Amino acid sequence: MGAEAFPANVPRVTTKTVQEMKDAGVPIAVLTAYDYTSARLLDRAGVDVLLVGDSAANVMAGHETTLPMTLDQMIYHAQCVVRGIDRSLVVVDLPFGAYQGKPTEALDAAIRVMKEAGAHAVKLEGGAPVTEAVEQMVTAGIPVMGHLGLTPQSIYDYGTYQVRARDEGEADELRADAKRLEEAGCFALVLEKIPADLAAEVTASLSIPTIGIGAGDQTDGQVLVSHDALGLSTDFEPRFVRRYARLDEAIVDAIGEYVSDVRDRSFPDDEESY
Ligand code: KIV
Repeated sequence: MGAEAFPANVPRVTTKTVQEMKDAGVPIAVLTAYDYTSARLLDRAGVDVLLVGDSAANVMAGHETTLPMTLDQMIYHAQCVVRGIDRSLVVVDLPFGAYQGKPTEALDAAIRVMKEAGAHAVKLEGGAPVTEAVEQMVTAGIPVMGHLGLTPQSIYDYGTYQVRARDEGEADELRADAKRLEEAGCFALVLEKIPADLAAEVTASLSIPTIGIGAGDQTDGQVLVSHDALGLSTDFEPRFVRRYARLDEAIVDAIGEYVSDVRDRSFPDDEESY
């Protein structure tokens, strides 16, 4: 079955669609989005799931880590993205500090995201410590995406952005966490920066779809930060990023032309004037 075929060509992607895509062996295309205009374009291009990632902290706000992102900021970005879509499923990251305390805090944060942004699902990072929170959200009718492997909100615990779960101890923990999250009711699971063999094994062991980033080609779908895929933020060069455009160069060239036209008064011309 090709990527254009059922169930990928539905008019509206739901959590049920992504499950059907896994079951039918159709890879799921996920990209991050943070604003209305980009969301419209990504939706039009056929991206199945738009992730309003807390990577907004890096690519939108210029922070070094994702930790400064607030719930209000995530809700603002999510509102902009939801206004731009017709077809894609919109999943919103719960930011650092919004769910690591009591499970009811996660539920409160997720309810705000669903109610105020009109999002379709939330995502949170971690395994055993968040399973109770996942259960509460799922019980409340909120679809939840899990996230294991390199979880950027824990960067100060790791101390490095290197590949996770290379050693058997951490790989075993990840296998167990993946099962826990599935049992808690997650509808999908992001696997970030782990060995491809481990990601393939976890993918085969779960009935829910896995979405990989730096996790090889055997996950049920792939996700990239759209700024990386489009070549907008090129100071970050991990090997798992494929650049589908160099929009940085296109923008600098276009704006350079604009500046030069303003300088020599060739803009605006008679047609562009009243
Ligand atoms: O915040 C984000 O963009 C993410 C993806 C990289 C998976 O969590």
